[in-house]
Amino acid sequence: MTESVTITDNRTGETIEIPIINGGVDATEWKKLLGNIWFADSGYTQTAATSSAITEIDGDAGILRYRGYPIEQLAEHSTYLEVAYLLVFGELPTHDQFEDWVHDVTYHTFIHENVRKRFLEGFHYDAHPMGMLVSALAALSTFYPEAKQIADPDVRYKQIVRLIAKMPTLAAACHRFSVGMPFVYPDNSLDFCSNFLSMMWKIAEPRYDANPALAHALDVLFILHADHELNCGTATMRMVGSSHADPYSATAAAAAALYGPRHGGANEQVIRMLTEIGSIDNVDDFVKGVKAGKGRLQGFGHRVYKNYDPRATIIKRTADEVFEITGKNPLLDIALKLEEVALSDEYFTSRKLYPNVDFYSGLIYQAMGFPIEMFTVLFAIPRVSGWLAHWKELLEQDQKIARPRQLYVGAEVRDYVGIDGR
Ligand code: CMC
Repeated sequence: MTESVTITDNRTGETIEIPIINGGVDATEWKKLLGNIWFADSGYTQTAATSSAITEIDGDAGILRYRGYPIEQLAEHSTYLEVAYLLVFGELPTHDQFEDWVHDVTYHTFIHENVRKRFLEGFHYDAHPMGMLVSALAALSTFYPEAKQIADPDVRYKQIVRLIAKMPTLAAACHRFSVGMPFVYPDNSLDFCSNFLSMMWKIAEPRYDANPALAHALDVLFILHADHELNCGTATMRMVGSSHADPYSATAAAAAALYGPRHGGANEQVIRMLTEIGSIDNVDDFVKGVKAGKGRLQGFGHRVYKNYDPRATIIKRTADEVFEITGKNPLLDIALKLEEVALSDEYFTSRKLYPNVDFYSGLIYQAMGFPIEMFTVLFAIPRVSGWLAHWKELLEQDQKIARPRQLYVGAEVRDYVGIDGR
């Protein structure tokens, strides 16, 4: 079998044979024959925007691997900070490398006082924490102007560390402000997740010790959310990064993409949907409504997974562990019933719509006490490591600026008419 495709331009009879490499055909080969014919692919459903060695997804088989390691093994044996290192640098760290990495991340958790006092506290009291986070990330670029030196590997390393380290601090600061609670400074004697939980929940006690099982569950969720190849947010990171913007601006753009309800905002929508359904008795009617076109089943479906999302399987297990401590989320029964009804309905099975990562994650976050508005922020905290891994890879690939083409379908040329003549 020849691993190639042959394209014929029926206008001229000219043909070109293009090899299939790594499952793709090179558009620059196509260009040789059909330079002015563009691929019409508005949602990038059939376009590989880059080659990448970070994350592999096989959507039909329900497989997710970071740098070759199955997500199930990483969730069981690794930690979020180790996974972040793996994503960014390509290999699991040695003892020494890990020690340095954890030290560096731990000692960059503080944010400049002006970011909190003058910037975050300037928001309206009911500002959505995701809106605050997106803005704060962009604002960080003004605090670290050297970040513009993207060609310098040391400068790059420093910004990667800063961003991973400051995400929990910014996230917690956004939450504390929204509930009128004083800001809690990072405690560098705590691990990554325990520190975040301390900044979220500490009140008057000298030291907040999170329940280790809850801190571990959060760490597992962070591993699962750390990267997912070229989703909308990561594609945005690469798009903005390709213009050689500084990493804070690019991360802010990626976080803005994540905010949308079709993407990272879905975990928030799932809880709103389950609350609206209200009782398992209403599930059948709700599903009928979805099938009749009245909205979507939030937390269902995925562009790449056409089989069960492997992250959803792990999350379901983690949910059981968390509920043992926190007590069951009362919405769980509705979620389970909804999943059961949807997975036995031809509408969903024929379209290969299965629960995705967001279907159960919100139930865990809610049981742990996080307000709904924080759910997408919780997604963003670990996703930063994936974004930065892609940003670093993009710069090392010396990729061209991302600049797609359009198919113009607007008016033909016409003459301007003054306002009185229209
Ligand atoms: N509920 C009901 N129908 C659906 C759903 C859903 N959640 N998702 C897709 N469909 C239907 C859709 O109406 C279409 O039907 P038809 O062929 O009859 O027109 C078919 O399935 C294909 O849908 P699509 O919109 O072409 O699929 P897509 O790959 O463009 O969209 C998606 C993927 C995730 C945006 C979409 O499934 C969706 O909106 N899901 C709900 C939101 C959600 O859970 N998002 C989180 C995704 S995973 C985490 C993340 O990315 O952050």
